Amino acid sequence: MKKVLLILNQKGGVGKSTLSIHLTRAFKEKNYKSAVIDTDMQGTCMLWSKQNDRNFTGSFVVYGVDGNVDKRDINSIDEELIVIDTPPRLNENNKELIELSNYIIIPAAPTNFDLWATDETIKFIKNVKPSTKIIIVINNISQNRSNMELDLKKLLEKQYTDIYVCDNMIYRRNAYIIEPNFTVFERKNDKAKREIINLVNEILDYIGE
Ligand SMILES: Nc1ncnc2c1ncn2[C@@H]1O[C@H](COP(=O)(O)OP(=O)(O)O)[C@@H](O)[C@H]1O
Ligand SMILES: [Mg+2]
Repeated sequence: MKKVLLILNQKGGVGKSTLSIHLTRAFKEKNYKSAVIDTDMQGTCMLWSKQNDRNFTGSFVVYGVDGNVDKRDINSIDEELIVIDTPPRLNENNKELIELSNYIIIPAAPTNFDLWATDETIKFIKNVKPSTKIIIVINNISQNRSNMELDLKKLLEKQYTDIYVCDNMIYRRNAYIIEPNFTVFERKNDKAKREIINLVNEILDYIGE
């Protein structure tokens, strides 16, 4: 069955586009038919896709959209796992996207300011559709490795008993930097590859794939 995963966080720079590309690339690695719908005018995923060589083996379809995405757009897409990247603002189309998505994935960075943005994002989602299944992926993009990410996980789990906070987290690594013809899977960094595969396995498990 077709599943739609919406990547959402009202804050910019928390890794929405990075996660969109890497999740989809990892789904491909696991032989799922998967694609990204890029609803951000800045079009990070779209640009990446356009700049890739024709014979780049790590590629997948990135649908660019001009305007709002609705249920009909989703139905017309062949791929079974659809990842939707969003702009760093909560807007009217996000409400429609929340309605039509099966899961919402919030990338969250472990700082106080990010926690506030995560909180606002969760409130927004619950206002639109209280029964939404929310998954949080902690993207530890801070320079200094502390235990803040573990504290954040505990805090989120205590605060939101109905939200799934992934055990597997993403850490700051150059391997994640998006460049044409590259994702973590095209680089030599095995740690990063393992990190993404473990995260994706956890997410697939949770969504019943
Ligand atoms: N885990 C990570 N390690 C290193 N750099 C990262 C990581 N996640 C994101 N970045 C970088 O942080 C910046 C913002 O990420 P991006 O995915 O564009 O965020 P958003 O889409 O939420 O605005 C980009 O320059 C990206 O390369
Ligand atoms: Mg982005």
